Amino acid sequence: MPGFRPACPHTRPRPEPNPAGPDGAGRTRAQQTNANEPPPMKSRATLPGSRLGAASMRLWGAALAAQLLLAGCGGKDHLRQYPQTTFYPTTEYARTTDWLFKLALVLGVVVGVAVLGILVLFLWKYRYRPGAPEPKQIHGNTRLEVAWTLIPAVILAGIAVPTVKAIFATQPEPPADAVTIEVIGKQWWWEFRYPQPNGDTLVTANEIHVPVGRTVHLLLKSDNVLHSFWVPQMGGKRDLITNRVNHLIFKPEQPGVYFGQCAEFCGTSHSLMRLRMIAHTQAGYQQWLASENAPAAEPAPADSAVALGKQLVVQGACAGCHYIKGTPMAAHVGPALTHFGRRRTLAAGIMDNNAANLHRWLANPPEVKPGSKMPNLNLTDQQITYITAYLQSLQ
Ligand code: CUA
Repeated sequence: MPGFRPACPHTRPRPEPNPAGPDGAGRTRAQQTNANEPPPMKSRATLPGSRLGAASMRLWGAALAAQLLLAGCGGKDHLRQYPQTTFYPTTEYARTTDWLFKLALVLGVVVGVAVLGILVLFLWKYRYRPGAPEPKQIHGNTRLEVAWTLIPAVILAGIAVPTVKAIFATQPEPPADAVTIEVIGKQWWWEFRYPQPNGDTLVTANEIHVPVGRTVHLLLKSDNVLHSFWVPQMGGKRDLITNRVNHLIFKPEQPGVYFGQCAEFCGTSHSLMRLRMIAHTQAGYQQWLASENAPAAEPAPADSAVALGKQLVVQGACAGCHYIKGTPMAAHVGPALTHFGRRRTLAAGIMDNNAANLHRWLANPPEVKPGSKMPNLNLTDQQITYITAYLQSLQ
């Protein structure tokens, strides 16, 4: 697909300014990422034969330790390079699982080093020597057997107790003032439904907006296959299952734009089922709600490209699948498009939302997103230009 540049979080810096993370100090990408990269591999010329010199070993040891430390501390550069990192938790939920992971990692390293150390020691101490007597047999030694049953049991309990505590801590009862949002997994995009106090429902897609300082209660559903909602900095993965409602409860603390992704294989374009979570201040969230609740902007003047685009969208095949508030379009097969022009990304977080990418998407959706339920409508270039103008006008 010439020219197609998916917005992969692992291959490009995050496009949006994020008050929650990067410092925005205006450094180049190379400067941003160097701190996280190991020193360049030494050439064979500096490593006589195939053996690593002691100095090289020390260097690599230091580099490895620095990597682990950086990963563990969740440095801001690390976040910029890997926006879906789990090492930069920003909620109580995410910190709980992060702490649990680090505990298990440390215990695992201690046990691994101890077991392998003892193994190597015994291999050396009791190695074969010509003429040596047969070693003393330990079969039936009750004290030893009790010891090597008890020690692993204590270690497992040491992990089980905080694990069970974390399971309960991350599944609390939501408070009465929690912001409830329905999340519906589609193939391969996300629908978000905000029940309103007046009984209406605000429907949007692929970018979920939440307030900081208030508990967010997601009701996770699917009307097709299994999906899994995951915004690593906010909390753990949780499945969306047909005929069942799962709950995900967390309290955002820092305004910003957070990357997320479907984390359960759900078909051809599973890896292209991404999302953004935008955390607002409480005032910003109320503003967003009010503007998002407004009907779509009317094109003016009536003979503009925008108006021609609206005519194509509302009277054409688009109306069979999409919803645009304030127009006759009321279908919910595809994403709601009422304020599509404001979204940062399109096609579920895989591309920046701009005219060129929109043009490419409309020209042949299944080519951009294999298996897409939006078919190639064989639109002409002119029609695509009009439709793009209309969609971009939906601010
Ligand atoms: Cu939805 Cu993977």
